Amino acid sequence: MNVEKGFVDAPVEEGLDLRKEIQRLKKEKDAVVLAHYYQKGEIQDVADFIGDSLALARIAQTLPNRMIVLCGVHFMGETAKILCPAKKVVVPDMNAGCSLADSCKADEFEAFIKEHPGHTVVSYVNTSAAVKALTDVVVTSSNAKNIVDQLPADEKIIFGPDRNLGNYINSVTGREMLLWNGACHVHEQFSLEKILQLKSEHPQAKVLVHPECKKSVVLVADKVGSTAALLNYALESDANEFIVATESGILHEMIKKCPGKMFIPAPPEDSTCACNDCSFMKLNTLEKLYNSMKYEQPEIIVNPEIAEAARRPIERMLEMS
Ligand code: 13P
Ligand code: SF4
Repeated sequence: MNVEKGFVDAPVEEGLDLRKEIQRLKKEKDAVVLAHYYQKGEIQDVADFIGDSLALARIAQTLPNRMIVLCGVHFMGETAKILCPAKKVVVPDMNAGCSLADSCKADEFEAFIKEHPGHTVVSYVNTSAAVKALTDVVVTSSNAKNIVDQLPADEKIIFGPDRNLGNYINSVTGREMLLWNGACHVHEQFSLEKILQLKSEHPQAKVLVHPECKKSVVLVADKVGSTAALLNYALESDANEFIVATESGILHEMIKKCPGKMFIPAPPEDSTCACNDCSFMKLNTLEKLYNSMKYEQPEIIVNPEIAEAARRPIERMLEMS
């Protein structure tokens, strides 16, 4: 089967009911489909579990199935494979990377760690397996504050790769973690001016912000949190309108879970688009998902030595959160 392009390049029979076929393949292949909140709605709708990156890692570990189909980006598939080495992990499209993970190459991160000896290394889950292998404890946006709070107050910490999340965690924990200078190309794009404009049009709206956003945007938030935390806030809030400053895929689940409430995507800077999409997340389609299940490709493979070293800080995260 041709996967040279990073996905199964096979024609799908015209008129095939892909949703039905995906359900059939789940049974036939003993497969489970996990999807991140930033996936296209059509993928979230056929998934067995939808979640933020912490929830997807946790769920992967508990599943009895032979095959995990991870609809998200590459590091999420890698995390599932590291935690479940005996299972087959496939993704719809290998090209679904992450600009934040790419902003932190393992050899450069290793040199940075060597330049600053005596530091505990805390890495965001949006990293390659090779970077996790250099790490003492992994965190996600859901548990970063909680985990950093558990480290001794005098411990010197390196945090990578997201400088915005790192700055935010420094501000809420009172730490002075040394930050790697990386960022997400989607979350950096949110514009304070455009959010304030929306706020003036919807004065009752609560502003929901992912901590990968710039400090100026975080400062106007009513709630700062991971995708799951923002969704829960919207569910539990008495407010009826929300301005959402994170990737727009999350609106699918927000609208589904909160009927009658209004969700307004915050737009990116320098664009006439209303929403802010992660082009990597949106590479996955229903057709590619179907083909990945049918042909069980492309498969996530992690070098066993790197996987072994990367598993330790991920398991430490799961124990601490
Ligand atoms: P969450 O951990 O909130 O799911 O975020 C993952 C991500 O890629 C954010 O851009
Ligand atoms: Fe990576 Fe940003 Fe896309 Fe999240 S939204 S997967 S951090 S590029």
